[in-house]
Amino acid sequence: MDWDSLVDAAWSAREQAYAPYSKFAVGAALLAADGRIFVGCNVENLSFGLSNCAERTAIFHAVTQGEREFDAMAIVADGPEATPPCGACRQVLMEFGPDMRIILAGDQGSQGPMREFTAGDLLPQAFITFKKDK
Ligand code: THU
Repeated sequence: MDWDSLVDAAWSAREQAYAPYSKFAVGAALLAADGRIFVGCNVENLSFGLSNCAERTAIFHAVTQGEREFDAMAIVADGPEATPPCGACRQVLMEFGPDMRIILAGDQGSQGPMREFTAGDLLPQAFITFKKDK
């Protein structure tokens, strides 16, 4: 698949980032199995530990809209290198499937080099102890 439109959606979401403390804006766009796209940005807080990453914002946004099946997530942030998701977000991504594609784009947007992983690639030996009901 061509990920350009998903990456573009992540860049648009990044424009909404609320990051007055770190000044590091992140955007994420989640492609659902039915083709819908759900976006998220990071939302920081003066009590720093309460800040929420773009990836989790996107997942929570989608689940709130009734979606639980995901094919891919694009993640974008400033910097010459693609920004991989933090450990907490990796665990949350794993909740919705080790096969989800994770697309990372550098700051040249959809024209720049992209890296592709699966959620499972990014969190080997993940905490999965019991079988869930969907
Ligand atoms: N951040 C994300 O949104 N995603 C990540 O995977 C890593 C970090 C945010 C959290 C915080 O608002 C800022 O980037 C700096 O850590």
